Amino acid sequence: MLTVLHISDLHFGPPYREQIGEKLLELTPQLRPDVIVISGDFTQRAKDEQFREASEFIKRLPDVPQVVVPGNHDVPLYRVAERFRNPHGLYQQHIHPELNHVVTVDGAMFVALDSTAPRTAITNGRIRQDQLEFCCDWFAGAEAGAARIVVAHHPFASAPDYAHDARMPRLKSVLQRFTELGVDMILGGHLHRAYIGNSLDVIETDHDRSILIVQSGTSTSRRGRARETNKNSFNLITIDSDHIDVEHHIYLDDTERFEPASQHRFPRFGKRLPNSQRQ
Ligand SMILES: [Fe+2]
Repeated sequence: MLTVLHISDLHFGPPYREQIGEKLLELTPQLRPDVIVISGDFTQRAKDEQFREASEFIKRLPDVPQVVVPGNHDVPLYRVAERFRNPHGLYQQHIHPELNHVVTVDGAMFVALDSTAPRTAITNGRIRQDQLEFCCDWFAGAEAGAARIVVAHHPFASAPDYAHDARMPRLKSVLQRFTELGVDMILGGHLHRAYIGNSLDVIETDHDRSILIVQSGTSTSRRGRARETNKNSFNLITIDSDHIDVEHHIYLDDTERFEPASQHRFPRFGKRLPNSQRQ
């Protein structure tokens, strides 16, 4: 069984809540994650100092493989010349040198994709053709039965309240390609509220080829939205050969700690397909 801690939207800078961040750091060793996914927006305004603080934070997390992607707040919005010249320079200096990367552990392959589009779409993001080819190349070598997980900041399905519902261009064809590649699950952030969707909300496929879409709320900032207004949350995901379990944790002011708020179990349809049919 594989345990994945999925946090997101830390927003170092004015929105960051230090007290909540410290509680999260205290809790994480007890959760015993095998992998930690951080799905973007490490900073509020992509400033050097904010990236330094975010970098210090992620170094204090348990020493396990990290899967990270930049969010739209990790590229400079107002420093326009920098946004066009070198939009991810500080992210690559402080968080991860690669904008797209792969983490392979026993039982899963994670492909992290940079969904930001700093020169064109500031907020709604996109996935480029070469990134789909990057996925294809890596998933072709995944071990049989390994969960195939894509991590990207921007959402691939709408939350029920449609708040901030800016869809990325070519969304259907991107999800179609992920389906052909046998992707089991997509992890993201951006909405600042937890949400579990499915590719069937966007494209028609057989149910046994559908992709689970899991969004995390903001884990440490004041920017929670909709049903998580002013709240902080993360997901604890466990994967075995038959199921994916998603446990949503939310910070409760009463107890001053993160508590499990809901649990969701999904069968791993994709793993039933022989590898030759997953390409
Ligand atoms: Fe964010």
